[in-house]
Amino acid sequence: MSSKRHILTAVAWPYANGPRHIGHVSGFGVPSDVFARFQRMSGNNVLMVSGTDEHGTPIQVLADQEGVSARELADRYNRIIAEDLVALGLSYDLFTRTTTANHYAVVQELFTGLHRNGYIFSKTTKGAISPSTGRTLPDRYVEGTCPICGYDGARGDQCDNCGKQLDPTDLINPRSKINGETPEFVDTEHFMLDLPAFAEQLSEWLKSKGGEWRPNVLKFSLNLLDELQPRAITRDLDWGVPIPLEGWRDQPNKRLYVWFDAVIGYLSASIEWAKRTGDPEAWRKWWQNSDAESFYFMGKDNIVFHSEIWPAMLLGYSGKGSKGGEPGSLGALNLPTEVVSSEFLTMEGRKFSSSRRVVIYVRDFLERYDADALRYYIIAAGPETQDTDFTWAEFVRRNNDELVATWGNLVNRSISMAAKNIGHIPEAGELTDADRAVLDASKAAFATVGERLNRAQFKAALQEAMRVVAEANKYFSEQAPWKLKKTDPKRMETVLHVALQLVSDAKTLLTPFLPASSNKVYEMLGGTGTWTGMPRLEEATDSIGGEEGVSTYPVITGDYADNEARWESIPIVPGTPLKPPTPLFRKLDQSVVDEELARLEAAAGS
Ligand code: MF3
Ligand code: ZN
Repeated sequence: MSSKRHILTAVAWPYANGPRHIGHVSGFGVPSDVFARFQRMSGNNVLMVSGTDEHGTPIQVLADQEGVSARELADRYNRIIAEDLVALGLSYDLFTRTTTANHYAVVQELFTGLHRNGYIFSKTTKGAISPSTGRTLPDRYVEGTCPICGYDGARGDQCDNCGKQLDPTDLINPRSKINGETPEFVDTEHFMLDLPAFAEQLSEWLKSKGGEWRPNVLKFSLNLLDELQPRAITRDLDWGVPIPLEGWRDQPNKRLYVWFDAVIGYLSASIEWAKRTGDPEAWRKWWQNSDAESFYFMGKDNIVFHSEIWPAMLLGYSGKGSKGGEPGSLGALNLPTEVVSSEFLTMEGRKFSSSRRVVIYVRDFLERYDADALRYYIIAAGPETQDTDFTWAEFVRRNNDELVATWGNLVNRSISMAAKNIGHIPEAGELTDADRAVLDASKAAFATVGERLNRAQFKAALQEAMRVVAEANKYFSEQAPWKLKKTDPKRMETVLHVALQLVSDAKTLLTPFLPASSNKVYEMLGGTGTWTGMPRLEEATDSIGGEEGVSTYPVITGDYADNEARWESIPIVPGTPLKPPTPLFRKLDQSVVDEELARLEAAAGS
């Protein structure tokens, strides 16, 4: 790679309305981390940001049900989610939250810029209220039939079946999800984002992405352009970012729509990160350099917000929609390079559902199994380009056959034999054709696996890396160094040298996927310093929330820039001391499958 690229890894913001389950992290979490780690190893400047998405009606409704404030509920899940994402090894430069003073200020700045450029206008619309209580009925709690695809479980903000954005009034036979009654629609004034004013620019932008984006994501995004309509960006609600206009700012029941504020989080978190590093302008390199790149990771129900609404907001703020205008005070901002969306994961043939308890939370999973085992499964068998089903049988099989018996076995048998017989990395004598062939193939994998990772083809990349591991195992078996011990000890040393080089290469190739176990292999091979950095939690303070205007909240951060891990075959150094290895992965008993299925049945019923 010639020069260092600036790559923003923008990860969808998990809702702080409950712990996240493995379906969530298979969409936004693990793929984004694989990508960020690979790009850092390739020498690029990565900024990976996200946080918890804490406003909006679902959190308010849940808080009401529990008799706590929305803020208390958000505090609770913000912490749980941050801890879980750290445990999964996700290498955020900053994982923050949407309830910070910085986020409020950046959101209001974007609103102001869009408004000044004429892309936001006010309109009287109909809002749902509950006839029995007279209270505003949150959009998500209005359910009905989708006018577009006919799906009966569509919500007042979006249809999860066809992915279209909706307003509650669009639904056929609307009903309250809370008590089943038919909502009443009353007049209410709201601000609208003028999406049709970006039709041409969005279309041109999307069309330039042909051949780059995943085909289903691009097709879906292009289809959205057929029915661009102004979109309400405010809500009748008291939990959210206040509207920064005279006469609106202090209205207790008008707030910016949660999706309007959440997508701005990518920018506000970049700005927060820059402030924390002591170089407050540093974010600009990822947002304003003309050759900076930005990759957005999410599940498919988020596509519309990232390939239509957020780009429209960026264009409008930059003065680049059909009404022109001037960039706001932050300056013009780049459009996404790619919207990388996965499809959905189901669980043993059923849709994940926290309420129906068809779910396995990240926390519970990681209490029983290792993070790398989950990461491996998500990439190898997850919903990269089509919906896939998580099954415990497949999880156990992949863990045992692929991680333990293939990769773990290669590491174990080659390092333990060298440690036991030689005690350090042996010298290589003269190489045979077989030695050279397998070393060349392993070296060449950096280009092939790297090419796939660069294009966010994670599953194919992992398959290719595991093929190298299988080849190495085959080499080891064929060369049978244990037989050479008596007959030809010099040749044995050469074979072990080659095998250890293959192990070293494979752990490099697998580092984006399996960071924790790659660090272990690095240490087993006598490596020093940090191979690939792991995230940590730090406590930050903010002026919103808490007592007397000081709240403490966890942020995820880490030191990933000066790690030893580089995307290339790094020659092992003969003479480096070796210790007998400890097992890399845990073999799972078949009984795990029945136990987990029983647990699921007990929680969810059949
Ligand atoms: N909270 C949303 C979800 O979980 C994702 C928000 S992504 C953001 O589906 F960029 F808008 F924050
Ligand atoms: Zn639909």
